[in-house]
Amino acid sequence: MLLLTGATGLVGSSLLRRLVADGTQVRCLVRDPRRLGAQRVRVQIALGDLTDPPSFRNALRGVRTVVHLASSIRDQPRGSIEELDGIATWRMVEAAERAGVECFLFFSALDASTHHRARVFRAKALAEHAVREASLRSIVFAPSLIYAPGDRLLTILERLALLPAVPVPGRGRAACQPIWAEDVADCVIGALRAPAPEPHARYELAGPQTLTHNEFLHVVVRSLGKHRPLVHVPTPLVSRGLRALEAVSGPRAFATWEEAELMQVPMVSARGTADAEQLGVNPQPVEAVLGRG
Ligand SMILES: NC(=O)c1ccc[n+]([C@@H]2O[C@H](COP(=O)([O-])OP(=O)(O)OC[C@H]3O[C@@H](n4cnc5c(N)ncnc54)[C@H](OP(=O)(O)O)[C@@H]3O)[C@@H](O)[C@H]2O)c1
Repeated sequence: MLLLTGATGLVGSSLLRRLVADGTQVRCLVRDPRRLGAQRVRVQIALGDLTDPPSFRNALRGVRTVVHLASSIRDQPRGSIEELDGIATWRMVEAAERAGVECFLFFSALDASTHHRARVFRAKALAEHAVREASLRSIVFAPSLIYAPGDRLLTILERLALLPAVPVPGRGRAACQPIWAEDVADCVIGALRAPAPEPHARYELAGPQTLTHNEFLHVVVRSLGKHRPLVHVPTPLVSRGLRALEAVSGPRAFATWEEAELMQVPMVSARGTADAEQLGVNPQPVEAVLGRG
């Protein structure tokens, strides 16, 4: 039995399709099973929440492998980013050790460190440390920006492209190596199938192009068949504006400062696509996935 958290997310939904198709017995830890769509009748469901450790213990019964994708880049009413991305992973891996799980696969982020400017990256670094220190076999993925047609970021950009110019937080010069969610899911399958020579493996996942956020946004807007100039909004203005919006709209805010800040964070692997290729995957360029418009 494999326990999958985050099965309703960008990577989780692509991965779940593959696992179900190859006959793997999957249990999904979810907040709302309806969000699994048609897959909910093909998997076992464990109702749970990252802020509710007892729900992990129930979900882990009889599980040999955990794939822990669930995470949040914004504070939630029941938990902060630090609780959801850091402490919850630490608790999950402890519960997995106690339950006799053999392998724990965790998604961190490229360049996560305890002194990173972004809260999510600091929380991921602490979580990664907890996973690496655990007594069970672990696999850590550290991806660059993950995207797929119709995902949240691309949907927001599609809406912004209705304007005469697309607003960008900051200067948009930070570089990333965008990787398609389907390629990421293939890498996970590759890692789960690979023999396990080392107790703690780590893979950096990057697409074949190194693009600044400005360049990535241009590719996305072009794929919509449009040409739009980018307007750079000074960081302090974005920060103040989005914090005020979150204070007024709460969890329903269309964007938060923590999310916008991620567009100013470099996410580049010196290894490029080498780790993905080692797992049998050749990541696609963005234009091949989105089309040229
Ligand atoms: N996307 C990127 O660019 C990127 C970059 C670097 C690293 N990563 C990491 O890669 C992994 C997969 O990313 P993704 O883009 O697929 O994530 P995603 O689309 O944002 O999905 C997040 C998942 O976590 C679940 N979740 C959120 N809060 C939860 C809670 N309190 N309790 C239980 N489940 C909760 C969501 O479930 P609901 O359906 O209930 O909301 C959803 O299934 C994550 O660990 C992420 O941090 C992503």
